[in-house]
Amino acid sequence: MKPHPQAQLFNSASVDAYRGLVGEGADLVARHVAAARSPFSGIDHRALEREFAPIDLDAPLGDADAALDELARVYLRDAVWFHHPRYLAHLNCPVVLPALLGETVLTAVNSSLDTWDQSAGATLVERRLIAWTAGRIGLGPGADGVFTSGGTQSNLQALLIARDEALGGDLARLPRLRILASDAAHFSVVKSARLLGMGANAVVAVRADDERRMDPVALERALERCHRAGELPAAVVATAGTTDFGSIDPLSAVADVCARHGVRLHVDAAYGCGLLVSPTRRDRLDGIERADSVTVDFHKSFFQPVSSSALLVRDTAALRHAGHHADYLNPRRMAERGIPNQVDKSLQTTRRFDALKLWLTLRVMGADGVGALFDSVLDLAAEGHALLTRDRRFRVVVEPQLSTLVFRWQPPHAPADASLLDAANLHAREALAASGAAVVAGTVVDGRHHLKFTLLNPASTVADLAVVLDLLDAHATAYLAADQAA
Ligand SMILES: Cc1ncc(COP(=O)(O)O)c(C=O)c1O
Repeated sequence: MKPHPQAQLFNSASVDAYRGLVGEGADLVARHVAAARSPFSGIDHRALEREFAPIDLDAPLGDADAALDELARVYLRDAVWFHHPRYLAHLNCPVVLPALLGETVLTAVNSSLDTWDQSAGATLVERRLIAWTAGRIGLGPGADGVFTSGGTQSNLQALLIARDEALGGDLARLPRLRILASDAAHFSVVKSARLLGMGANAVVAVRADDERRMDPVALERALERCHRAGELPAAVVATAGTTDFGSIDPLSAVADVCARHGVRLHVDAAYGCGLLVSPTRRDRLDGIERADSVTVDFHKSFFQPVSSSALLVRDTAALRHAGHHADYLNPRRMAERGIPNQVDKSLQTTRRFDALKLWLTLRVMGADGVGALFDSVLDLAAEGHALLTRDRRFRVVVEPQLSTLVFRWQPPHAPADASLLDAANLHAREALAASGAAVVAGTVVDGRHHLKFTLLNPASTVADLAVVLDLLDAHATAYLAADQAA
């Protein structure tokens, strides 16, 4: 006889089943992680799609064991493992155990961080973490913020605030609003401008220097040009850790320019926020304390599982632009009675208690522990840069300010044909991923295809980097040989 669906509900009657199931899930993941010899199986998407074809979602398997067996086949067997030392591709970090503990707790309790009557202590946990982060940044006594789903959402909210502050209620000003960001800023800046009705053209690209950092002189000129053209600069977005290069815009100099022009400064520290807890390199963020708003992504450089991210603001009043009072949820009288809620500050309504992961991380290992992990990937990047500089098969683009290395396979004997070299670099990346031995990223620099290591795993070593460089070289060399033979 099939068990009644009520037996699947999590409640006091099912706590033993809950313990067993969570244990089974953890055991399954542990077995796969222990067995993972490479970061990826290299499976082709068509082969994986074939595994899904016979699955009929209207024909349940009836028990968790069967469902987990199936899951192992369609997901875990071919998952991309960020904990593996040769996963060197995107801004994904391995996660720390206290955060996984937090994830287990928050999912089961399932608090929603909108109103007090759906969250109680969870709201206070989030508020303390926001205050702690704002304190680390140095935003001052009026600071506030809210957890978000990621850097994209944080940037969107920051630019929503900038737009509404600049409009001052006068919608006729909208077409004249401008946002200034370096050409190495994250694409979510342009996307936000579009979503906010300003249009992608509202984003003015400010020249970056050879180190891919915003040039403050170019910023000053761009602002002057805006004023001459009758445009209204709503915000300057400085990046503390660009996605491609990990470059950090000169925050103090940029803040000086913003102050002279009376323009809001938003700092996108989605990647560089790990420096907030670095025992040795906090000074690389000097000037961030002058920002009006800051994006931090704990799921990038604090070793937190996705999602864990926040937007911080210097002045709590800035968050009102996301607020709305609904009779059924957060009537104004609740706020007037001093009952705390987070929905007044957020773009979301129902929202995960992601803050709990960071809370347990800080309570178990402390900020210095997280900072030491981040420091070790910065050390690795410096070693990797030295390795690449010595290696005549590759040309490295910039010295890392964080943990990203961008380079191109371009050995001395390589043909002069830049498009052929582009194709060899592209092929090397894809062939490496298809082999599963390692995963690296790629990007285009000055119109040419490059390879990229994003180092966020303290367990990766310079020996791993050396092995991966040899593999890339072998794939690129084989590509050229095949091309020449053809
Ligand atoms: C500098 C920067 N800002 C924002 C983002 C977007 O963050 P998320 O992917 O968490 O939305 C990224 C993502 O890589 C980033 O590198």
